[in-house]
Amino acid sequence: RLAEGLDIPEWFSYPKVVEELRRAHPPKHKQGFTIFFTGLSGSGKSTIANALMVKLLEDGSRPVTLLDGDVVRKNLSSELTFSEEHRNLNIQRIGYVASEITKNRGIAICAPIAPYAKMRRQVREAIEPLGGFLEVHVATPIEVCEERDRKGLYAKARAGIIKGFTGIDDPYEVPENAEIVIDTSELSPDLAAHRILITLEKHGYLK
Ligand code: PPS
Repeated sequence: RLAEGLDIPEWFSYPKVVEELRRAHPPKHKQGFTIFFTGLSGSGKSTIANALMVKLLEDGSRPVTLLDGDVVRKNLSSELTFSEEHRNLNIQRIGYVASEITKNRGIAICAPIAPYAKMRRQVREAIEPLGGFLEVHVATPIEVCEERDRKGLYAKARAGIIKGFTGIDDPYEVPENAEIVIDTSELSPDLAAHRILITLEKHGYLK
């Protein structure tokens, strides 16, 4: 119980030890955490991530960094393709940045497709010892994503102009242990972000 350092009993009266434990194991509302979105292109990851970022900035308890799929691709992974190997490398980079942010008690919001379970698990395993980790599966059905087709990419994938498009001719391994599952054909981005906030409160990461 003491090792968790979150709930030091009142009778425990060695001030120096208590002080050291508190410093090394801050309570959850002072630890960093990562919100890791995963889902198909057009599922609503970025929209929810942005709505969540606004709410967390309003909360003001910690600095917030958004690592959005497209933005990371442009600034951190511009040389990468969408092969399995390169997608994995992309997720590894995002996971590393998020782990540093989490370790330094900030909030990282990641919003890549992250189609492979193995990489999602690796990121979780790297971050959990450093702070909080919540996986959010944006499980909007592919028919809805394709119907929206905001960037016209599904049409190009169907026409064979883009090859290896997630959900069309490239895999998306459905998460089995996501803490939160959201379908944006049933829930607005704002309500989705609110649900994530409530979960963070429940887990003790927000006061
Ligand atoms: S991954 O798999 O996690 O590395 O993908 P990610 O870095 O999040 O990039 C996804 C965005 O890239 C665009 N795009 C593609 N997506 C999937 N498959 C292929 N082949 C592809 N080519 C380009 C697409 O716009 C994705 O953006 P979102 O925001 O997810 O719609």
